[in-house]
Amino acid sequence: MEFSVIPQPVEMRLHGDRPVFRLTRLCNLHADDESRLAKEALLRFLEKPLELELVGTGKEHLFLRVDASVSSPEGYTLTVEENRVTITGHDSAGVFYGVQTLGQLLLQADGALPALEIADAPQYSYRGFLLDVSRYFFAPDAVRQLLDAMALHKLNRFHWHLTDDHGWRIELDNWPLLTQIGSMRAYTNFGRHPHGGYYTKDEIREIVQYAHDRFIQVIPEVDSPGHVVSAIASYPFLSCFNRELPVATNSGVQHDILCVGKETSFDFMFSVLDEVAELFPDGMFHIGGDEVPTMRWDNCPDCQKKMRELGFTSPAQLYAWYIGRITAHLQQKGFRVFAWHNAQLGEDIDPSVIRQHWDMLPGENADLSHVVDADYHSYYFDLPYGMVTLKNCYTHNPAKNGAQPFGVECCLWTEYVPSMQKAGYCAFPRMGAFSETAWTPPEKKNYALFLKKLPAYFRLLDAVSLPHATKRQALPSLIRNWGYQAWFWRRNLHAMGLKKELDDRKVAREAQNR
Ligand code: ACM
Ligand code: ZN
Repeated sequence: MEFSVIPQPVEMRLHGDRPVFRLTRLCNLHADDESRLAKEALLRFLEKPLELELVGTGKEHLFLRVDASVSSPEGYTLTVEENRVTITGHDSAGVFYGVQTLGQLLLQADGALPALEIADAPQYSYRGFLLDVSRYFFAPDAVRQLLDAMALHKLNRFHWHLTDDHGWRIELDNWPLLTQIGSMRAYTNFGRHPHGGYYTKDEIREIVQYAHDRFIQVIPEVDSPGHVVSAIASYPFLSCFNRELPVATNSGVQHDILCVGKETSFDFMFSVLDEVAELFPDGMFHIGGDEVPTMRWDNCPDCQKKMRELGFTSPAQLYAWYIGRITAHLQQKGFRVFAWHNAQLGEDIDPSVIRQHWDMLPGENADLSHVVDADYHSYYFDLPYGMVTLKNCYTHNPAKNGAQPFGVECCLWTEYVPSMQKAGYCAFPRMGAFSETAWTPPEKKNYALFLKKLPAYFRLLDAVSLPHATKRQALPSLIRNWGYQAWFWRRNLHAMGLKKELDDRKVAREAQNR
């Protein structure tokens, strides 16, 4: 018997092939108080996919417990002996991860386990997954399904990209038009029909609780000063020139951004952040900050006046000043602030901000203590398998000269992901590959072994009803690969769009005629 566990445990020793423990409905389950959530997770797994309801009168015993003898945070040991399985966690999360491993073993061995010992603990304490719900709205049930998938892969930070040009997804009492207007766009990249949706505050609270029950902390993202067209569509005063715009329909970077020359924009942002912050108790907040073209600021009388007042000579200074005020506001409320590393503008921001790098990864000798690695060549799951290959995804090494970044994160952007089916196709098996970097120590990683484990991994995904790419789709031939590349470049051309250029010229003309 060989077991295929993903992510690969740090140590796994099998003692022979003879089954010594059989899981039947007669098994007795014992869990201490601290292992309550792990016990609930195990019972859910027994119910589906194993279809077993324990009655607990037999000779087999399964113990879940927390004990300081396991030294690493989130770590656990799992031993199978004659009629006895014991999972011991350093903490409640450790027991929970032990249960995730046990589920994979039980599924593969049809409930009959040989004697074995596993000792396991994560490589990274920040193991993230981003879901973009702005480009396509994912209803609460779909979000919960993806949180279950995170738990299955032992991931523990959910980065929830809640606002963007294409839709505002969080209901706020102080700014009702954000959802009344900003949550609906006229059409998407797939067909000329409207698309929209948003979460009520109760739905957000329920999802956060659901995440916490799976040892996942939630980081909301409210992106600004770029990526705010859905807010501008709702409240035009937020833009330079008070432009009346529809919620964005075309992909790509929008040129209309927040007018930071007007104090009313700050009043809006602080009020929004205050209301959003109340729903997210984990003390982390992502403020976006990516992709900020400054052509509107260059022409806007308000932004230009502000720059003169502050003695600024470049839009990068205006950007840094804006990010600084937003950061300080959240820090005063006790939040740790995250932002996208911004290739053009992001050099001069508060060093305590955690920077998420999607491009321009830090150099060999950079200080990585405030870096989340979300390398788009490796971890952008919306890109085709011919570009973000399974191998790139698996072999990317976020550590430099032995130093680890603060965290690692895989991202599901959804410009071209309209359904759970497509989300699954994009994310799996790549999330499995990513999880072995996030969890498994580098010296225990092995791409050839990972490929060997794929059939068992696919059976696991099928068992929990998660859609996924097939092996053929995930490992495309050269010819298919060219097909993917062609699709991708067509998609990019589509995204760049001539329309925005014409639009910019119009705004510049209007500015001159003032
Ligand atoms: C990003 O991909 N613009 C963060
Ligand atoms: Zn302005």
